[in-house]
Amino acid sequence: MSGHGDPIPMISHKAGPLSGVAEVPGDKSISHRSLILGAMAVGETRITGLLEGDDVLDTAKAMRAFGAEVTQHGPGQWSVHGVGVGGFAEPDQVIDCGNSGTGVRLIMGAAATQPVTATFTGDASLNSRPMARVTDPLALFGTATHGRSKGRLPLTLVGAREPAAVRYVVPMPSAQVKSAVLLAGLNAPGQTVVIEKEATRDHTERMLAGFGAEVQIEHTDEGREITLTGQPELTPQDITVPRDPSSAAFPVCAALIVPGSDVLVPTIGLNPTRAGLYETLRDMGADLTYENLREEGGEPVADLRARYSPDMKGITVPAARAASMIDEYPVLSVVAAFAKGRCHFEGVKELRVKESDRIDAMAVGLRANGVEVEETEDTMTVIGTGAVEGGAVCASHLDHRIAMAFMVLGMAAQKAVSLDDGQPIATSFPIFEPLMARLGARIERA
Ligand code: S3P
Repeated sequence: MSGHGDPIPMISHKAGPLSGVAEVPGDKSISHRSLILGAMAVGETRITGLLEGDDVLDTAKAMRAFGAEVTQHGPGQWSVHGVGVGGFAEPDQVIDCGNSGTGVRLIMGAAATQPVTATFTGDASLNSRPMARVTDPLALFGTATHGRSKGRLPLTLVGAREPAAVRYVVPMPSAQVKSAVLLAGLNAPGQTVVIEKEATRDHTERMLAGFGAEVQIEHTDEGREITLTGQPELTPQDITVPRDPSSAAFPVCAALIVPGSDVLVPTIGLNPTRAGLYETLRDMGADLTYENLREEGGEPVADLRARYSPDMKGITVPAARAASMIDEYPVLSVVAAFAKGRCHFEGVKELRVKESDRIDAMAVGLRANGVEVEETEDTMTVIGTGAVEGGAVCASHLDHRIAMAFMVLGMAAQKAVSLDDGQPIATSFPIFEPLMARLGARIERA
């Protein structure tokens, strides 16, 4: 669980050239799904390269509470002995998902059509986030939930005893909502149909098919339509979790703005539903190349090579690209401050309901460090001048990506940048400090 220990203040000093190889940890989205789908298969799923961040460890605990046997065999090596679709046991304790919106929303979906009653909670960040976006579609299956106002956690869920398959158009671009409905559909007889107007990360669909479920994807006038046939027997899998492109963003972006840098970030998935940041950086004029482009486990993968790029320019990032880089805007706003001109992000209001209000958190921290930022409910604009003064203390708001973005800012700003609490970094990137230090960053715990 994150957010329960003492705060860890940090300071990031101007760094010399960053160089070397950055082996970032496993993908957070795929790690959660490996544990949850493993718990719903019959028999043993083996996972290599699981992200051992707090968010995923909380999901592992939750799967144990629902009756699966989850075992760590070595670093990144895990197995899950699943209980089968419909086989969840009733947990005898409250399920604490810590900081993880993905964890709690996907697990609520998985539990929604099983004959269990479970209570979910999290840290102050998670308990302030909207859950009606998940509980509303789950109600269509016959699932009852009782939470605080706006459906917020702590929340008790009573699984539907006789679930009915649903057809649901997801009202906002959210892979978590899409996935919660699909996981609920697993134990509903008949076909559950989920329609998304804009494509979001597609790991749940791909992995459901990999575990042997019948999944069909069609593109219709309404959007991308996913049809899942309920009550399959899921077959355990051997899963190798690819490295996380959202974590790779930090060493890549740091290399682009620290003079003289040249960093290689190997084996990063370039699934188009996740790769928007890298296309955007290239559009800005970043010296970012894809080396050794290949396929691994059916996904496009490359080694990313990022070199210092003093001539980047501000661009407009269209709303259509937002879903494919939604977690990367905080660190992109830092890069934008070192580019020249206006960098304008459109269609980003989902950033306001992440682990923090990320538009507000970045705008306040960047302004404190001498960067001009404009914002509306749905847009953010950074006016880059090619240099940043720095010198301020920034608040992480219990948000790992805000914390890491400000530490990257400090590596290239004229004066060191401080952070009130770096503890949330452990939710997704527990080796951030040693990995960045090996490249040449100078982050200290204050
Ligand atoms: C995720 C979906 C995204 C993303 C989150 C991980 C997932 O959230 O921000 O970090 O694994 O499904 P939304 O579904 O709220 O956009």
